[in-house]
Amino acid sequence: MGKDSLTLIDNRTDKTYEIDITDSTIRAKDLRQIKVTDDEFGMMSYDPSFENTASCKSSVTYIDGDNGILRYRGYPIEQLAESSSQLEVAKLLVDGELPNEKELRKWTEDVLSENNIPNELLEIIQSFPKDSHPMGVLISLIAALSTFYPDSKNITDERENYKNICRLIAQVPILAAYYYRHSQGLKIVPPDNSLSYAENFLNMMFEGDEKKLHPNLVSAMDTLLILHADHEQNCSASVMRNVGSSEPDPYSSVSAATSALYGPLHGGANEAVLEMLNQIESVENIPIFLEKVQKKEVKLMGFGHRVYKAYDPRAKYIKKAADNVFEITGTNPLLDIALKLESIALSEEYFIKRNLYPNVDFYSGLIYQSMGIPTEMFTVLFTIGRTPGWLAQWVEFLSDKDQKIARPRQVYTGYEERDYLDISKR
Ligand code: CMC
Repeated sequence: MGKDSLTLIDNRTDKTYEIDITDSTIRAKDLRQIKVTDDEFGMMSYDPSFENTASCKSSVTYIDGDNGILRYRGYPIEQLAESSSQLEVAKLLVDGELPNEKELRKWTEDVLSENNIPNELLEIIQSFPKDSHPMGVLISLIAALSTFYPDSKNITDERENYKNICRLIAQVPILAAYYYRHSQGLKIVPPDNSLSYAENFLNMMFEGDEKKLHPNLVSAMDTLLILHADHEQNCSASVMRNVGSSEPDPYSSVSAATSALYGPLHGGANEAVLEMLNQIESVENIPIFLEKVQKKEVKLMGFGHRVYKAYDPRAKYIKKAADNVFEITGTNPLLDIALKLESIALSEEYFIKRNLYPNVDFYSGLIYQSMGIPTEMFTVLFTIGRTPGWLAQWVEFLSDKDQKIARPRQVYTGYEERDYLDISKR
């Protein structure tokens, strides 16, 4: 084994540079010394979409994309989904360790004590048109929270941060459920602190509907929240860190992260999968649909991932968890289409060559739909699940001495200087 460094020769100047390697990475800033003339800025790396750029060091979540492995703080996702609960996982993510009984009790109390939605916010919820997309509403409501808690700007105050973390974890599901009730013309159901996090959310949505509050469904909701709780530096987590880097309050950053999640290439894919399955309509139409995918006329939603080049372990687990829900609700008629779509796709050259497998969003919507959750609420559920992960990434960011305001560079391709022309001469 040689030295942990890279020797680069700039053929423009014949100069040689030695650049340190740490954790199989080089520091992009080390490239800056490479220049032809002294007055140049120096070399940069060009990486649109950050396909090969590590933007931080992180100890929150580990993904091995080639082998389909996902761990939070070292714990395999399957073990957490099987044995833990969303609030315990939230504590693990934010703090770094599984809490003992006393710590978990305190954490639960601290989160639950923050579940009073400001009255004025209730009025704002009532003012949204009933057919608004709930993600647009949620993004606005989370941002609005910062106006009610102005001390949240003091992000160097750890006690203040802790309070706001608890508040976000407590209030995001309440805001989501309250808007859902408003959209249905129903009275809001206040949170019930005697219930678990997942059951409380379902109760605020569906109070009095025994079938929708069945223990199997509550347990499936808890599992789904855990499976969605973090996924290292994805689009929304990066937004959380980038927005957080200009040091606003955490509500503004979580609202921005929620906006990033909304898109169909990220968290919005769960809604898009259902639309796609509805459009395919029957198993017989799958070959025609897949032909369109291969001609790149449409995407197979819920397939593919930037990091996983194997089966997404979350999708594997969701497929398993679905049985417990279908036992109560009966099977989802779209499941046959999804299963057949997956099996045909996985045998076709197009998908094999590109390592395209089902991701977390491929099966989650089918469970949500069977649980009676409207399609537009699917990405809202992803948001509730992911909020602790965003906050864990934010907390880590705040204590990382390597981090500053995020400010990428560009390769300018526009005009050289030119003179302003009067409008009559253009
Ligand atoms: N259907 C058809 N072709 C695809 C798909 C797909 N779902 N995903 C990737 N490809 C093709 C892509 O066209 C490209 O082909 P080629 O090599 O011929 O140019 C190749 O596979 C590599 O894909 P890419 O676009 O370079 O991959 P990426 O890392 O930029 O994008 C992705 C990742 C998740 C955005 C993409 O796979 C996608 O759009 N999938 C569908 C949307 C989806 O399910 N999103 C949820 C992601 S997982 C949960 C989450 O993040 O929220």
